[in-house]
Amino acid sequence: MKDVAVIGIGCTVFGEKWSHSFRDLFIEAGALALEDANLSGEQIDSLFVGNMSAGRFIEQEHIGALIADYAGLATEHTPSTRVEAACASGGLAFRQGVTAVASGMADIVVAAGVEKMTDVAPGQTVDTLASAADREWEGFVGATFPGLYAMIATDYMHRYPLTREQLALVAVKNHYNGARNPIAQFQQEISIDTVISSSLVADPLRLFDCSPITDGAAAVILAPLEIARKYTDTPVKVLASAQASDTIALHDRRDISTLDATVAASQRAFHQARLSHKNIDLVEVHDCFTIAEICAIEDLGFCTKGEAGKLTEEGVTALNGDLPVNTSGGLKACGHPVGATGIKQIYEIVQQLRGEAGKRQVDAQIGMTHNVGGTGATVVVHILGRS
Ligand code: COA
Repeated sequence: MKDVAVIGIGCTVFGEKWSHSFRDLFIEAGALALEDANLSGEQIDSLFVGNMSAGRFIEQEHIGALIADYAGLATEHTPSTRVEAACASGGLAFRQGVTAVASGMADIVVAAGVEKMTDVAPGQTVDTLASAADREWEGFVGATFPGLYAMIATDYMHRYPLTREQLALVAVKNHYNGARNPIAQFQQEISIDTVISSSLVADPLRLFDCSPITDGAAAVILAPLEIARKYTDTPVKVLASAQASDTIALHDRRDISTLDATVAASQRAFHQARLSHKNIDLVEVHDCFTIAEICAIEDLGFCTKGEAGKLTEEGVTALNGDLPVNTSGGLKACGHPVGATGIKQIYEIVQQLRGEAGKRQVDAQIGMTHNVGGTGATVVVHILGRS
């Protein structure tokens, strides 16, 4: 297997993008990544595109071919493949790209993610997202994603000493980071009171406990590490790529407050990279709801169960803490265009490792990403390091 490096990155501004079509978003992110790697389109061997639900959001399927066509690669006949794993589609597209390069099947590979979520009415968006859960056992009886994560939060707060204020502090921290990120959907700081007094969505989760509905795209370019310096002075090495599955329905889990797929994927990633938790300088976790960040920190193994609220309150996960979590603003403040999120996480870690994160810059040699599909039926974990 070849060592793999990220040699180029690009991302659109996230938000409600009325003036951009689905294809505009992808082309913008892809062009930025190619420019960053000093490459032209004809040099691409293969594309993997994470997308959850263009069929329902914009009534367009066959996304792989569409992207290749609008990227000007139809006449090159470049292979282009859509990858779908709900909100983990981006992370999984990255993993497919890594596998293609590591195996020697391709040299220059684009791994991207794109989602255009705001062109349909809010009810349809919520229902489309709910299709990532178990339709027969959860969706048909009215469970939405805020509803499912509210069940996790209720169970967690019953069993562990997490206060309402500690939960709110996850959103406060992520908005603080988002306010320092030019691509973030929300660039304003908030207080604990903003969260606690915001409207109730699914008890105990309020508006500011939730990630928003977002349009956006992100793209990265992968190449074998041995040729990476032909394209960039700052290649970032992929140290581990791991994936795990779990039951799709929450009620079938051994423990609904622990994402066992996160536990499994992170153990595999640490084993592959031959690293331990103390080697990780920062992590982008899947905070689709504030409770999800609390569970992620614990299930990735950075502390024991029940401790992440205290860690957040003590500032350990803040920009200037020992383990900065979600320096991008996370899904909460940077936004969550579901198919693009996993690639945006890679984009953030690469920016941090290259020292290009501006006001969000932390001191980092090694970073981790954690991307979740559904309530944890798919989890993808990557570890990246300065080369
Ligand atoms: N955090 C903070 N502010 C938010 C927000 C969020 N998550 N979502 C919307 N807002 C703001 C909007 O900017 C808008 O502000 P404005 O009036 O100043 O312009 C206001 O709240 C109303 O926005 P609107 O789009 O009408 O919100 P909504 O009530 O339709 O939707 C949620 C709010 C929380 C229900 C929706 O964002 C949601 O479903 N989020 C979860 C997404 C999800 O499940 N993703 C998959 C996870 S796995």
